[in-house]
Amino acid sequence: MNSPDTLPPAEDLQIRVPATPEHTNAGGDIFGGWVMSQVDIAGSIPCVRRSRGRVVTVAVNRFVFEQPVHVGDMVSVYARITRVGRTSMTTEVTVYVERHPRAPQIIRVARAEVVYVAVDEHGRPRPVEEAAS
Ligand SMILES: CC(C)(COP(=O)(O)OP(=O)(O)OC[C@H]1O[C@@H](n2cnc3c(N)ncnc32)[C@H](O)[C@@H]1OP(=O)(O)O)[C@@H](O)C(=O)NCCC(=O)NCCS
Repeated sequence: MNSPDTLPPAEDLQIRVPATPEHTNAGGDIFGGWVMSQVDIAGSIPCVRRSRGRVVTVAVNRFVFEQPVHVGDMVSVYARITRVGRTSMTTEVTVYVERHPRAPQIIRVARAEVVYVAVDEHGRPRPVEEAAS
């Protein structure tokens, strides 16, 4: 378990969404694919801002599910850019849940490294620096 003071900076918060029953797997916990999609969306947000335009996901270099997500958890996804290449941006994405609102626990449940590429209107890579200057 992680205490709230170990959370990433508030400005890195990209998504906050409750985990609802329609996203459960056969075991009753939240389906990993739903968590992965939240991570993908969250990681893209700072990259769209940084490159001032469309991005696509090119690679998930690492993805670790550290704890299950339960129905009713409030899921917060943090993302920040750790590397900018010519057309690519590497992000570190971390997922936390808030559980038991009456006696809140904050738990890190997943972390990932996801790479995005800035693309033009034809889906071709475009330079990040050019767009951001
Ligand atoms: C992303 C895409 C536009 C890259 O096209 P490409 O012709 O391979 O482009 P390049 O070889 O010039 O590579 C572009 C950048 O991506 C990086 N890249 C390519 N493959 C990579 C990989 N497997 N891992 C990490 N970075 C990668 C390159 O290093 C390069 O970065 P840089 O410019 O910062 O040095 C193309 O592969 C694509 O459209 N992929 C599908 C994307 C998609 O649909 N995502 C959603 C899936 S549901």
